Amino acid sequence: MSISTRARNAAPSPTLAITARVRALKLQGVDVIGFGAGEPDFDTPAHIKAAAVAALEQGYTKYTPSTGDADLKQAIVEKLAKDNGLHYKPSQTIVSCGGKHSLYNLFQALLNTGDEVIVPAPYWVSYPEQVKLADGTPVVVETKPEDNFMPAPAALKNACTSRTRALILNSPSNPTGGMADRKQMEEIAAFCVEHNILLVSDELYEKLIYDGREHVSPASLGPEIFQRTVTVNGCSKAYAMTGWRIGYAAAADEELIAAMGRIQDQSTSNPTSIAQKAAVAALTGPPEVLEQMRTAFEKRRNLMVAGLNNIPGLQCLLPGGAFYAFPRIADLLGRRIGERIVQTSDQLADYLLEEARVAVVPGSGFGADEYMRLSYAASESQIEMGLERMAAALRKLE
Ligand SMILES: Cc1ncc(COP(=O)(O)O)c(C=O)c1O
Repeated sequence: MSISTRARNAAPSPTLAITARVRALKLQGVDVIGFGAGEPDFDTPAHIKAAAVAALEQGYTKYTPSTGDADLKQAIVEKLAKDNGLHYKPSQTIVSCGGKHSLYNLFQALLNTGDEVIVPAPYWVSYPEQVKLADGTPVVVETKPEDNFMPAPAALKNACTSRTRALILNSPSNPTGGMADRKQMEEIAAFCVEHNILLVSDELYEKLIYDGREHVSPASLGPEIFQRTVTVNGCSKAYAMTGWRIGYAAAADEELIAAMGRIQDQSTSNPTSIAQKAAVAALTGPPEVLEQMRTAFEKRRNLMVAGLNNIPGLQCLLPGGAFYAFPRIADLLGRRIGERIVQTSDQLADYLLEEARVAVVPGSGFGADEYMRLSYAASESQIEMGLERMAAALRKLE
């Protein structure tokens, strides 16, 4: 069978691959500690599950409007107003099968062949792939740890051409946990306004932020950037609902939202009916459940980052949000154990899986080979044990 060039050029997701490898090893009875998964380890809160059960029992099992139910769009509009200071109409929103799907629809609706999208690195693995799947060209811009891994205006300017259509910003970030502060956000917004570029603001980790930091939605920074932003969010990370597949996007540009809707009409139709009812319960429910999860993540972050920094050869910044630690591993690359040399982040991840039975995600997939990503969506005892095992394995590298 001949496979399309498009599909051949699409890289498999390294994060999903690690998760699948850990699952397979566990099934074989191997005691693996998984720091690979990009999902909360908490169960979906009970009131959200109850809403889905009620929907099921009431026979809410048919097609819904393709881009989402009216009550869910209303809940999204109210959430964006209350939490983010963003005032959209329901017609300026679309509900999709996950934030990933909203982003996919967006690039399909926005890009023509050769259009460029600026992707700050380290990036979430799907951004460049989704741009390529829409025949666009990802233009990678390096960021610095001292800038919280957020793009500097000068670097953005250098990357900007007459073909640049959009910039993707992810704060808090997967994989770095870095967050843009208000000043950085204002600079990035000013850049997009000056160059008339669409700002794709992926705010999936908005609820998971620490040390009293402030999440700034760029679209709230003034009417000009509001006109040029697509705000993307979803239920996966905030409400421990990764499997339910509900994400959404909102934009002032109704034509763009309608175009995304046409892509969705002809591909998936609506997100699952009962998951939409669960999402209404999530968005309108009590905030206390979120706070419990956030507090637990903050404690685990502190444990994970302190432990990583105690391992010789690793340096890890304290991430402001999300649930990932992103240590620099450059000092370990080039070291050996017997005949084996560890030269890349992939080789280090393989070594840790084989020697320490600890799964991490190599930085290569995020455009950052001198780093690795560890999810601290794991229990404190798993984090402690994983750190011990990694320290022992890494001590053997000479
Ligand atoms: C940065 C970022 N954006 C978007 C998503 C998509 O999440 P979902 O499709 O589950 O809503 C993820 C999931 O890993 C993510 O890390």
